[in-house]
Amino acid sequence: MPKIAVLIGSLRRDSINKKYAHALEKLAGDRLDFHYLDVDLPLYNEDLWENPPEKVVQLKADIEAADGVLIVTPEYNRSVPPCTKNAIDWASRPYGHNSWKGKPVAITGASPGRQGTAVSQSQLRSTLVICETVVMGGPEVYMTFTPDLLTDDGTFASEGTQKFLNGFIDAFVRWVERP
Ligand code: FNR
Repeated sequence: MPKIAVLIGSLRRDSINKKYAHALEKLAGDRLDFHYLDVDLPLYNEDLWENPPEKVVQLKADIEAADGVLIVTPEYNRSVPPCTKNAIDWASRPYGHNSWKGKPVAITGASPGRQGTAVSQSQLRSTLVICETVVMGGPEVYMTFTPDLLTDDGTFASEGTQKFLNGFIDAFVRWVERP
């Protein structure tokens, strides 16, 4: 089963993106093995490489050990939230030691609004190309997080949503396992 490092771009206790990511993990079952990255990191500062924070070293190791990375990100002011961008920036350095290089990546994200993080995801795509990841082109999933999206036990309530997201998961499995 492909090992997937999951980057959730929110530190918030009740994050809808955390709930969404955990529901995706349940839906994926034995198709993907989710490992959550710790992205509660100091703000990027080149000077810190003199004695790199343990969490940064761990982040890079976790990404490098994974078969693929799933990014589940909110959108802040029509852009990528600092938590998401900060983790990506840390893992891309030090220069010449880019942990993202060649890594298969899929992006999704949830917001309460109708655009469901579309702008954030679009901007993130160009950053991930520069980081030399291999970003899955589609299907794109812009999730509008409404109170009825999940059941009390954190699974997707609607069969239609499950079917759609099963397509996303299957596409990511193929993306990660492609020769
Ligand atoms: C937001 N939110 C938001 N939502 C959106 O769809 N587009 C946006 O541009 C923004 N902008 C924005 C800026 C800032 C500073 C905050 C704090 C929030 C709302 C956002 O989608 C909502 O707070 C989500 O709940 C954030 O995701 P988590 O933390 O719940 O995973």
